Amino acid sequence: MKNDLFDLSGEVAVVIGGTGVLGGGMADALAAYGAQVVVLGRNSERGAARVRDIEAAGGRAIFQSADAMDRDSLAEARDQICNALGPVSILVSAAGGNRPDATIPPGGDFCKLSKEAWNGVFDLNLVGGSLLPAQVFGETMLQQKKGSIINIASMAGMIPLSRVVAYSAAKAAVINLTMFLAREWATRGVRVNAISPGFFPAEQNRALLYKEDGSYSERGGQIIGHTPMARFGQAHELSGAVVWLAAHRASSFVTGQNIVVDGGFSSTTI
Ligand SMILES: NC(=O)c1ccc[n+]([C@@H]2O[C@H](COP(=O)([O-])OP(=O)(O)OC[C@H]3O[C@@H](n4cnc5c(N)ncnc54)[C@H](O)[C@@H]3O)[C@@H](O)[C@H]2O)c1
Repeated sequence: MKNDLFDLSGEVAVVIGGTGVLGGGMADALAAYGAQVVVLGRNSERGAARVRDIEAAGGRAIFQSADAMDRDSLAEARDQICNALGPVSILVSAAGGNRPDATIPPGGDFCKLSKEAWNGVFDLNLVGGSLLPAQVFGETMLQQKKGSIINIASMAGMIPLSRVVAYSAAKAAVINLTMFLAREWATRGVRVNAISPGFFPAEQNRALLYKEDGSYSERGGQIIGHTPMARFGQAHELSGAVVWLAAHRASSFVTGQNIVVDGGFSSTTI
């Protein structure tokens, strides 16, 4: 018997934030397993570069421009994708990140955190990073009675990390929304799960983890010290989780789960 549990050929997979480090790595993985991948984001240069990389590796991909914070922009993108490639059956929502003004400085005062910064982080991670994509692409998945939605939450959504309170709370909300949607759509053919990465150097957190000379920042060093595997993760180490959750045959009875990929960070206390 052919072992095709993880075969994604025939699937159309949209990776929102596929222009970034983790989203890009997951786009590579989905394409490697046969999906036709849509790298969706705002930066066409980075999107085109990712598409070239996927094609060079023998996969199929296109770039689609859209803003995850704008429902109309997402709906327009969805319609263009469905017309060009057919219905979307896999959605990875990987737009997100923290912002400097929402990070409490060392010795800083939680009471001084601005509402604008708080709202900005919630808008990016919860609204653009999960809610709107699930609404827009979920609608067509429900019509097809087939879909796998994978929200990129964070280990910070399970353990509130020091200083990045808004980001941690927003990611906790992403995990909660994932569980809500899983139950809501469980009998309608659409599975909804989350992946919670630990610490992976990317654009949005590089300055937090490294000094300018490339050595670990104080916080980067603390994180490594608390990670049983004693290192940061690399984007390709999310491949197994995303392909498994995307593959309808491999994870057909899995919904509402949060898969943690963090080198053991969340399993230990000091
Ligand atoms: N890197 C980590 O250590 C880590 C850990 C846990 C969770 N995450 C999460 O993983 C996801 C990917 O982050 P990353 O670390 O690869 O960062 P990244 O900055 O490399 O990628 C994020 C991408 O999202 C895009 N994006 C942002 N706003 C957008 C919008 N409105 N519309 C469309 N695209 C938009 C950015 O342009 C960027 O390409 C985020 O949700 C992040 O919170 C990252």
